[in-house]
Amino acid sequence: MMEPMHEGLRSDIEEQVRERFRKAAISPRGLFSYPTGRAGLLALAYAARDLNLGETLSALPESVQESFCGVGNPFAAGLPGVGGQVLDVGCGAGVDVLVAALSVGPEGHVTGLEFSPEMRERAQANAALAGVGNVSFMPGGAEELPFADASFDLLISNGVYNLVLHKRQALAEAYRVLRPGARLQVADQILEDAAPFQQDLGLGSPPEAKNWAT
Ligand SMILES: C[S@@+](CC[C@H](N)C(=O)[O-])C[C@H]1O[C@@H](n2cnc3c(N)ncnc32)[C@H](O)[C@@H]1O
Repeated sequence: MMEPMHEGLRSDIEEQVRERFRKAAISPRGLFSYPTGRAGLLALAYAARDLNLGETLSALPESVQESFCGVGNPFAAGLPGVGGQVLDVGCGAGVDVLVAALSVGPEGHVTGLEFSPEMRERAQANAALAGVGNVSFMPGGAEELPFADASFDLLISNGVYNLVLHKRQALAEAYRVLRPGARLQVADQILEDAAPFQQDLGLGSPPEAKNWAT
């Protein structure tokens, strides 16, 4: 069961998130406080030789790379294995999905879950531009994953869980859909100070944002 939260606040926050990514689906340039597009990918070592990612990245057209708006590099913890079944929660325009799809190869499959229709369309278009077929994109939210238990070998996510309201529920869902021995590789931002507005709204103590990600 989800933790209680004022429904008005919940829909306001979700609407702001959706609005930001509706714009980012056209182009993320200038919308975020961190580098996006190819500059972001290079800053986050997506082309680093020791990650063996450089070749994968160069297989993606420049316009696809330019749509990247992740905050970190989930592949810094390793690339998915050949033949793997991968889920990307909050896949955005699909750059991480495509990197994973090239790594798992034709016997593997990558599913991108995304709640913004504009981002899903962009992700489909990017997959077509890149000529990558072992991917699918599904509508849905991180808090209720539309998949059976133990469906995936790897769950990746990049800059999504910080935006999710019910983090415990979302992480419980992540564990539910992973197979025994599977991996969870999440790149995200964490809040080091207390959220100032939380108590003003009567929502209880501020969250210890540092803890949930450690
Ligand atoms: C930083 S972007 C992901 C970047 C992406 N991995 C890439 O390759 O460029 C975060 C995405 O998460 C989506 N998102 C945010 N909250 C979500 C939620 N609760 N459920 C599903 N998707 C969500 C946003 O719409 C956005 O497209």
